[in-house]
Amino acid sequence: MSAPGYFISFEGGDGVGKSTQSRLLGDWLAELTGREVVLTREPGGTSLGAELRAAVLHGEDMDSRTEALLYAADRAHHVASLVKPALERGAIVITDRYLDSSVAYQAGGRALDAKAVERLSLWAVDGLLPRVTVLLDLDPVVAEARRGTRDDSPDRLERAGDEFHRRTREAFLARAAADPARWVVLDADAPVEDIQAQIRVDVAARLGLTPVVDEAVDLSLATREGPGEPRPGEAEGA
Ligand SMILES: Nc1ncnc2c1ncn2[C@@H]1O[C@H](COP(=O)(O)OP(=O)(O)OP(=O)(O)O)[C@@H](O)[C@H]1O
Ligand SMILES: [Mg+2]
Repeated sequence: MSAPGYFISFEGGDGVGKSTQSRLLGDWLAELTGREVVLTREPGGTSLGAELRAAVLHGEDMDSRTEALLYAADRAHHVASLVKPALERGAIVITDRYLDSSVAYQAGGRALDAKAVERLSLWAVDGLLPRVTVLLDLDPVVAEARRGTRDDSPDRLERAGDEFHRRTREAFLARAAADPARWVVLDADAPVEDIQAQIRVDVAARLGLTPVVDEAVDLSLATREGPGEPRPGEAEGA
């Protein structure tokens, strides 16, 4: 599919900062490009998806194939009803998790065949891949400490154990290394602002927005030096 919009995904384990960083990137891209920005997530980006999300994360225990099929069903509906229409009208779509999460969690974590999980997901979305995927890489122990302050009860994946989360992290890194043209891998153990600054540089470069970024920087310099801006230390009305 070649639609006029841009499709971006955020990936990584639980609590690495995906929601925080995708929101900040969305605000910045909306301002920078003037385009509509759609922030969404998997599983559960649609109302059917919310039901599937509840079933897969908080429902009864299920075998790995059932789990993989439920994620794929959520993804198929998400792409067909929300992502594709938005890309077709020229929006920037930022999704918090996409099919790489399925491959990393179901194949890395649950030990299903990675190629099979990927094929299932690609079939579900008719081959749609993001232009850029940002992997926020973090030691699961650090991520868990961040999330420790939350009071909601842990879901089925969050309860899956340290070894599961370590394998999932390795699966994300291996996937990113295999397709460097699509992936941006960042160390998520840094201040929010520093990570966001790096994401902006890398995403703009991948989307070919670099001239616009340079222009924006020039403009902000011009404004700062323009008349009417009191310099630091200049007393008002003095
Ligand atoms: N760089 C950072 N340094 C320290 N704390 C952070 C950083 N980024 C996010 N946090 C905090 O860590 C927690 C998890 O962040 P966030 O919800 O963005 O992660 P997430 O990857 O979306 O998590 P989940 O997988 O649970 O949805 C939040 O309390 C957030 O404020
Ligand atoms: Mg989140």
